Amino acid sequence: MNPIVFDDSLLTRLAAARRVVVLTGAGISAESRVATFRDPDGLWARFRPEELANVDAFLANPVMVQAWYRHRRDIVTGVQPNAAHHALVDLARLVPSFTLVTQNVDDLHRRAGSDDVLELHGNITRSTCIACGESASPEDVSASPQDDPWICASCGGLVRPDVVWFGEALPEDVFADAWTAAENADVFLSVGTSAVVYPAADLPLVAGSAGALTIEINVERSAIADHMDVVILGQAGRVLPALVTAMRTHAAHRSPLDAIPHV
Ligand code: OAD
Repeated sequence: MNPIVFDDSLLTRLAAARRVVVLTGAGISAESRVATFRDPDGLWARFRPEELANVDAFLANPVMVQAWYRHRRDIVTGVQPNAAHHALVDLARLVPSFTLVTQNVDDLHRRAGSDDVLELHGNITRSTCIACGESASPEDVSASPQDDPWICASCGGLVRPDVVWFGEALPEDVFADAWTAAENADVFLSVGTSAVVYPAADLPLVAGSAGALTIEINVERSAIADHMDVVILGQAGRVLPALVTAMRTHAAHRSPLDAIPHV
């Protein structure tokens, strides 16, 4: 396979960047064998969101919805972060300020070692009671019933996954932090997202309008690719590690004079 070659101007811009923001979507976990949503074999090709991913469906049939999330939780806890997740941990160490925003609920960024991930759509490994808000412990999760509704050990309310369902607002403070980071980014990378779900898809556009260099990494052009400065087609697990290596090589070959402002 041919090595990926990055434009020198891109590497120079990255080397000069003080604030780098990355938005990830389901595509970054595809190489960990977690299904995406909208690819031909994605979750929304096999399941109906209106029957599973909204509060009315949950209240109407908690056992079915809890079982679907248990199944998805078992999948994500049974796989490993891939080279793309790990590359973002490395990238964070190469730049002065790094913010990772994800639409994914699979917890793979945290397991790879990323800190302070802004989880726009929640995290499937956490569950809370809809009545008292108490979080389920790992023991509660493993003891949760399969054929009866899973109810809170403290108050008897139904326990739901800590994810954002259709029709629900994103966690306000998390989204505010992501928005501020996007507005202040020097470089904004959008990785493995179809960019059709808002408000998450606004973030690269906001960053671009505020002057950031915007880069998309995806196996195909997303809905907002025409608005991005650079589109790199390829698997995240191949492109991101190559980008980190290229950044390190670029930094090693920079002359010390490069750090002195030119007059
Ligand atoms: P999608 O399934 O909509 O898009 C996945 C994207 O990943 C597509 O653009 C693919 O081309 C790309 N892709 C697939 N494999 C890849 C790889 N190996 N490397 C790079 N890119 C790859 O997933 P999202 O954009 O994350 O919301 O979907 C956004 C939201 O829609 C999700 O967070 C979820 C869903 O409804 C909620 O659950 C609230």
